[in-house]
Amino acid sequence: METANSGIILGIESSCDETAAAVVRAGKEVLSNVVFSQIALHQPYGGVVPELASREHLRAIVPVVRKALADARQTYESIDAVAVTQGPGLAGALLVGISYAKALAFALDKPLIAVNHLEGHIHAVLLEERQSGNRSVKFPVVALVVSGGHTHLYLAEEREGIWSYRNIGRTRDDAAGEAFDKVAKLLGLGYPGGPLIDKLSRFGDAKAVKFASPQIKHRDRNDKTSASNEQRFDFSYSGIKTAVLRYVETENLRTEIERRKDEISRISKPTVDDYQSTCDQRTLDLIASFQRTMVEDLVRKSLEASRSYEAATLFVTGGVAANNELRRSFEENCSKEGIQVYFPSRSLSTDNAAMIAAAAHPKLMVEDFAAMDFSAEPGLVLTSR
Ligand code: KG4
Ligand code: ZN
Repeated sequence: METANSGIILGIESSCDETAAAVVRAGKEVLSNVVFSQIALHQPYGGVVPELASREHLRAIVPVVRKALADARQTYESIDAVAVTQGPGLAGALLVGISYAKALAFALDKPLIAVNHLEGHIHAVLLEERQSGNRSVKFPVVALVVSGGHTHLYLAEEREGIWSYRNIGRTRDDAAGEAFDKVAKLLGLGYPGGPLIDKLSRFGDAKAVKFASPQIKHRDRNDKTSASNEQRFDFSYSGIKTAVLRYVETENLRTEIERRKDEISRISKPTVDDYQSTCDQRTLDLIASFQRTMVEDLVRKSLEASRSYEAATLFVTGGVAANNELRRSFEENCSKEGIQVYFPSRSLSTDNAAMIAAAAHPKLMVEDFAAMDFSAEPGLVLTSR
């Protein structure tokens, strides 16, 4: 079958604040990867505004897809299939990508493939490894998907090219990226907070402020499964956010935060240096200590899960996987434990459509196509079929 041999997939991703399209050959070769970020649009609000996101996706989707095809030297006719994110994500935002993908697939008479965004993040790791020539992933694989909307641990398996996933840990409240973003907002730093906290942490003492390691607080006594292995690997990040708030209040950092907001608002494109110059040492220490606590918790729980499931390989993916300290810590600790750890490159860590096209490839191989009446699923979970 010609389709199966070439496997050129146009991927479309619009689940949150990035309008993205990419062309990937056979799940292993990125021919193009276009990401139109809406960060500047949402920045004044300190977070993603769903209505604005949908409107911006509508404006961007056609030029972004055209550019992805042009960059890949492909045409609408030359691709083998169209893949699109079905969920999880913002309903209105998802619908823009889905409606456009459906229209394209229908008009071109090409197969349409629905992809779970979280599976996309996992396949970003595989895509990265295949691109660098690594074809042999050792199983069992534990995958940490850590982003603005998710902090999930999965046990991932592959049988005859088909991947299946078992969720073995999840966040009870805030996702890790959300905690980075909320703490950054609280401290008067820009949106999204993760990349800035990553860069500013370098200038602070990570041992200066002691935060309790994030705990799962409200265990349901009637929940018969509460002692199960799986709950040991759950995360909770709302407590650390409150602890940062408390620190801000007890250390009287409010005035400095207001001054920072004022100074930054006068700069059209503030740089890390601009932010750094508005932070005193106490704030830089607070930022570094917050990041250290987050990294230690993510690494500790992922390694506990890896030990418990005797994982040979750990995947770390999603926007927060771009974090420098997180990568360093995973590399150091996994090497001590003899576990292979793989990350996507930074551009494949954050939301993109190449990961959606890559995750669609095994589905193209087995002709697992979406019905034309499928719709967005904002709360879509990733499970085995
Ligand atoms: O995967 P992603 O692009 O979108 C979601 O699916 O959520 O992740 C975005 C999240 C944001 O919360 C952002 O602050 C965080 O990833 N992030 C980082 C870094 N780069 C992005 N967090 C920590 N360090 C970074 N370098
Ligand atoms: Zn994502």
